[in-house]
Amino acid sequence: MTTLDSRTLAVHAPGPDHGEWWRDAVIYQVYPRSFADANGDGIGDLPGITGRLDHLAALGVDAVWLSPFYRSPQADAGYDVSDYRDVDPLFGTLADFDALLTRAHDLGLKVVVDMVPNHSSDEHVWFQEALRTEPGSPERARYLFREGKGADGELPPNNWQSIFGGPAWTRLSEERHGTADRQWYLHMFDSKQPDLDWTNPEVRAEFESVLRFWLDRGVDGFRIDVAHGMVKADGLPDWDGHVSMIDGTDDAADGDPESVSGGGGNQGPMFDQDGVHEIYRAWRRILDEYDGDRMLVAEAWVDPLSRLARYVRPDEMHQAFNFAFLATGWNAPALREIIAASYQVNDSVGAPTTWVLSNHDVVRHPSRLGLPTPGDRPNGIGRTDPQPDEELGLRRGRAASLLLLGLPGSAYLYQGEELGLPEHTSLDDELREDPAFFRTNGAERGRDGCRVPLPWEADAPAMGYSPTGLTWLPQPEEWKAYAADVQTGQDGSTLELYRETLRLRRELGLGLGGMVWAEEYAGTDQVIAFRNRDVLVVANLGSTPVPLPTGAQVLLSSGLTGDADPGDELPGDTTVWLRLG
Ligand code: NOJ
Repeated sequence: MTTLDSRTLAVHAPGPDHGEWWRDAVIYQVYPRSFADANGDGIGDLPGITGRLDHLAALGVDAVWLSPFYRSPQADAGYDVSDYRDVDPLFGTLADFDALLTRAHDLGLKVVVDMVPNHSSDEHVWFQEALRTEPGSPERARYLFREGKGADGELPPNNWQSIFGGPAWTRLSEERHGTADRQWYLHMFDSKQPDLDWTNPEVRAEFESVLRFWLDRGVDGFRIDVAHGMVKADGLPDWDGHVSMIDGTDDAADGDPESVSGGGGNQGPMFDQDGVHEIYRAWRRILDEYDGDRMLVAEAWVDPLSRLARYVRPDEMHQAFNFAFLATGWNAPALREIIAASYQVNDSVGAPTTWVLSNHDVVRHPSRLGLPTPGDRPNGIGRTDPQPDEELGLRRGRAASLLLLGLPGSAYLYQGEELGLPEHTSLDDELREDPAFFRTNGAERGRDGCRVPLPWEADAPAMGYSPTGLTWLPQPEEWKAYAADVQTGQDGSTLELYRETLRLRRELGLGLGGMVWAEEYAGTDQVIAFRNRDVLVVANLGSTPVPLPTGAQVLLSSGLTGDADPGDELPGDTTVWLRLG
């Protein structure tokens, strides 16, 4: 593999327009429990989402990705599914889902749903059957049950740790199963999320049928949870490394896509095994049977980027989340290398690069970028932790978003980022629900702070989220200033900035554009500057101003003042889009 020099000017050639919607799509993540609550029980639901789809159409996104709404005991906020073919009563009914899909399609929005195939809930009928049957039964063979080590099998079968903390194995209880059957089962996440055994053809057949169930209902695609984790190395060998969803190396890039980090760092025997790819080839064949350009996007925290590209080879998935950008600090040279390496590896397999800054698993990006070490990626922020600088974070957050949306490829937005919402960083620990908080005894604050219900109307109950004023997590009082109704029509607001940015991105075809580094800024360590079609994007990640080319028309500025024209100097922590004269 040749070493990529990130100063090479032409990085990515404009893509031909294959008419495949996902290649340049802006996809908005809805986290159903926190988006909008129609029935007033304090937990968001599908009718709530349907009622707010106009907001997304007006924002200018192409598609909506819904985090899980399936039947679930909610031990991991729905990522613990007990019935893959039904809607949890918390969120509504299948008829509510159909109504959401119809309304979205009427508005021209595609709908992508989440698929969680690595593990089910322990309350799934399969796991319940496994518990009722003997070791060695076909029912147990759908999961990863093993005998323990030690004289009485009292030690776990291997040393793997759960991504949420603590051991990745739980032993069946003596009270329920007697002394003769005290097998252990594997769960890479919570003990209520047993891992399925993907070497079992029955498991494969079941998920293929589940995919068809939702494809038949009309969904436009699937986001595949833990796509790198379904196949484990033969023999489940011990591993001493650290498992985490969001590990990875910052700023360590040396320009070689064989080493540029995808923000994963998950290289143990439970991740990124070659065997996963055959599963996606089979799924791709199924999607290809359907009309309408259905797609698959991989959630795979895999290192390095060249490994991630294997998930988007022509006969596998269509996209993979590129977490490398998210996982990199506020550092222009490091981001430039990530950008260049991302195009190189994705172009080599003909897949679009994706870009993302926030989701339901990480601290919201304005807050990350406002930390004393900007871009740190703590697993949540509590009130006794170092607090972000809110204004600086918002300034950088907007600059990062404008930079990201100027890049060719597909972009993922997380609900609330169009409002510039910060993380809730002072949540009472008693209110937390994330299993990662409990399994690490609070060492990780967890992900609740990015999952707080959205503010829609500053003066309505629950800021417009719920008609009764109930909210499953409290909204900070300061969020009134971020409410969608306050920002609508307000010059320079983050919401209006996102609307205008998405409008221009679409109008100018930037998602399918090319990328050429701007020569005039080569050699500066605080700027990322590139051309995409007729637009010059200049992001100043430093704190001092840099000169702007004379005579260029300012199309957009991320600056907080509402002043669209930065003059001939670009202030620190600001991005502009310029039209070349
Ligand atoms: C990744 C999801 O994004 C996260 O929220 C979840 O906890 C784990 N996978 C387990 O399903």
